[in-house]
Amino acid sequence: MEKRVIMFPLPLQGCINPMLQLAKILHSRGFSITVIHTRFNAPKASNHPLFNFLEIEDGVSEKEKDYNVMSLLAQINRNAESPFHDCLRKLLLQSQESEKISCLIDDCGWLFTQSVSESLNLPRLVLCTFKATFLNAYPIIPLLRTKGYLPVSDSEAEDSVLEFPPLRKRDLLRVIREDEVELGPFLRVTVETTMRSSGIIFMSCEELEKESLNIAKEIFKVPVFAVGPFHSYFSASSSSLFTQDETCVPWLDKQEDKSVIYVSLGSVVNVKESEFLEIAYGLYNSKQPFLWVVRPGLVQGVEWITLLSEELMSSLEEKGKIVKWAPQQEVLAHRAIGGFLTHNGWNSTLESICEGVPMICLPGGWDQMLNSRFVSDIWKVGIHLEGRIEREEIKKAVRLLMMENEGEKIRERMNVLKDEVAKSVKHGGSSFRSIETLATHILSL
Ligand code: UDX
Repeated sequence: MEKRVIMFPLPLQGCINPMLQLAKILHSRGFSITVIHTRFNAPKASNHPLFNFLEIEDGVSEKEKDYNVMSLLAQINRNAESPFHDCLRKLLLQSQESEKISCLIDDCGWLFTQSVSESLNLPRLVLCTFKATFLNAYPIIPLLRTKGYLPVSDSEAEDSVLEFPPLRKRDLLRVIREDEVELGPFLRVTVETTMRSSGIIFMSCEELEKESLNIAKEIFKVPVFAVGPFHSYFSASSSSLFTQDETCVPWLDKQEDKSVIYVSLGSVVNVKESEFLEIAYGLYNSKQPFLWVVRPGLVQGVEWITLLSEELMSSLEEKGKIVKWAPQQEVLAHRAIGGFLTHNGWNSTLESICEGVPMICLPGGWDQMLNSRFVSDIWKVGIHLEGRIEREEIKKAVRLLMMENEGEKIRERMNVLKDEVAKSVKHGGSSFRSIETLATHILSL
C-alpha cells in the first residue's frame, strides 16, 4: 500500500528549505509527498515534480509583506487555520483505499495544526528547523522576562544566563524584546502542542548536541529524531525563493584557495543604513576578496545597493563581488572560500560546519543569538563580533580569521567538527540510523 506524508512548511526561506529537504529524504525511503503551502512565499512546485503541491489562502496582502517576522507569523497563524483544515479534510476524504495518509509533518511555528490534525484523527510530527537547545528553552523564555533580567546593565552584560547556557545576558535583549506581547502565548502554545504530537524531528545530530536532544525527550515526552543536517543528503537550491546569481561560481574560480570571505545575513535579518556602510568599508579595508550577498530590502526601504556611492562601489569592485542572492551551499563548498560572515541562522550555521568554513558571527536575533554562542564559545569555530557593526571591528575579524595564526587554529577546530558531523550522516552514523527509526515510526502511526 502506498504511504503518503503531508508536509506544511512555515513560509520563510529558512523553514521551507529544511521541509523540502526532509520531503526528499522521506521520498527516497518510499513515501509519497503532498506539500500544503501558503500563497505567501509559495515554493516553486515545478522544481519538485515528484511531489504534489496544494496552495491555501493566508490573507497576506502585498503591502503587508514588509512586516516583522513575529507579526507576520501571528497573522498567518490567524488566517490560515480554516483553509488548512478544509484542505486537509478534503485530502483525507479523497485518499484512496490503495493509499494511506500516514501523518502530517509541519513546522513547530504553526500553532493550530495539532488541534486540526487531532480533529481529523491524523498523527502529527513536528519539524524543528533550529537547534534543540533553543526549543528546550521555550518553556523558560517567558519566565526570564519576569525574573528581572531586563534591562541588562553594562557590568553584567557578559555574564551567562544560568537558565539558558551558553547565552550571555547581553544576548537576551535580542531574544526577548520588552515590547513583544505575543511572544509568551506563542511559546506556550508551541510547547503544549509539541507535547501532544507524535514526535519531533530535528535538523541536527548527536555530534552537535547529544545532551540537548536527551533533554528534549524529557521536556516534551515524545519520540525525538535527529536526522542530521538535511542538506547533506539533498541540496536546498531547488527550494530557493529568490533567483540565485550563478555568476558567483566562475568569479570564485578565479580566486585563490581559502582567500574569499563570504558575507550573507540570510533571508530575514535587516541592518540600518549606517551599519550597511560600515560593513562595506570593513570589507574594503580588510583587503581580502569578498563575496557579499546584499538581499534587496536588507536595509529596510532600500531597493539594493543604492547607498554605495559610485566611488565606494568602484573601490569595492577591485576586490569583491556583490550579488542579490547566491547559490549558498555551492559557494560554501568552493575551494576559494576561507570564511563566512554570517547571521548564524541554523541552516547557514550547519551549511558552514558541513563545509568546514570558519565563521564570523553577526547574529540578528532569536535563535541566532544561541547558535552564534555555540560557534564562538563552545565549539570555538568562529569569531563573535558582539554586535559591533563597525568597519574597524569587521576588518580586524576578517584579517584575524583569514591571515593570522589564531584563524588557523579556528580552522583546524572547524575541520574536526566537520569530520564528526560528516560521520553522523554516513551509513551507520547516528543521523543515518535516525532516518531509519523515523521511517519505521511513521509506518507504525
Ligand atoms: C530563519 C532564521 O533567521 C533562523 O535563525 C532560523 O534558524 C531559521 O529561519 P534565515 O534567516 O533565512 O532563517 O537563515 P538560515 O537559517 O541561515 O537559512 C537561509 C537559507 O537560505 C540557507 O539554506 C541558505 O543556504 C539559503 N541562502 C541564503 C541562499 O541560498 N542564498 C543566499 O544568498 C543566502
